[in-house]
Amino acid sequence: MLLARGHEVHGSDVNPRPAGAPEGLPWHHLDVTDPAEIAALFRELTPGAVFHLAALLSATGESRPQVAYAVNQTGTFNVLEACREHGVRQLVFTSTIAVFGPGLASPVGDDVPLRPTTMYGITKVAGELLGDYYFRRYGVDFRAVRFPGLISATLPGGGTSDYAPLMYIEGLRAGRYEAFCRPDSRIPMMYMPDGIRALVELAAAPRERLSRSVYNIAAFSPTAQEIADSVMRALPGVSITFEPDPRRQAILDSWPDALDDSLARRDWGWRPEHDLEGMTAALIPEVRALLRAHPEGAAH
Ligand code: SER
Repeated sequence: MLLARGHEVHGSDVNPRPAGAPEGLPWHHLDVTDPAEIAALFRELTPGAVFHLAALLSATGESRPQVAYAVNQTGTFNVLEACREHGVRQLVFTSTIAVFGPGLASPVGDDVPLRPTTMYGITKVAGELLGDYYFRRYGVDFRAVRFPGLISATLPGGGTSDYAPLMYIEGLRAGRYEAFCRPDSRIPMMYMPDGIRALVELAAAPRERLSRSVYNIAAFSPTAQEIADSVMRALPGVSITFEPDPRRQAILDSWPDALDDSLARRDWGWRPEHDLEGMTAALIPEVRALLRAHPEGAAH
């Protein structure tokens, strides 16, 4: 989306360049736990803006809390420091519904007590607070969204919300999927193109219109059963069943079932374009193409 808007864009990760990355996107190895590597890349590229997305998600973070701390917490500190030292104008950060803990009244607004129960959530709260500190103290133009569970036609990687994309991926691949949650589990969800557009639009908003650095954004809040019904309606013959995993269910139960995103709507014009049915229609051909490239499907 940034390339389409005419920006010079560079991608980086500890992983190699992903298959399907657009032409015209130079790729760089970067490990955010290594400050020297970030400094070298920022010296070379002198970026005006950085989108800092590197993180372990909630389920992987509970398997490997120390690695989650190193990547999510120390990594975010390292990126902020590099922005300060190398004069990067803007840092866009991705926070999450996982910053919230149990017991909040729904829909959950932006300014509520943040008492997450996962290492992932704790490090994302710290990232929000650190980023706002670098804005006030050093003038780094730090902005963030709190993403719902994101659903896209990519093999998911260690999130607790992965049951949603897996319904599509495994439904199309195997004709059946056993979800690791209860059918009445309800968390905020979003189709990836809306999530990407949110980052690009937040980055482009005039700072004087922003009343805060970190915004809730929302699209729809289906139960797991409602997602399953949408998949099974679109793909007759697919069977989706439920076998809750206690650890992942406990994480789901600690998250809000809906977010109030009225400040994002007011301050920078945020609007989701896809509801559950629109997402299902768009996603099925994309997942078919994904499975042509990855016929083995996802580990889950
Ligand atoms: N999708 C994320 C996860 O499940 C939530 O931020 O960890």
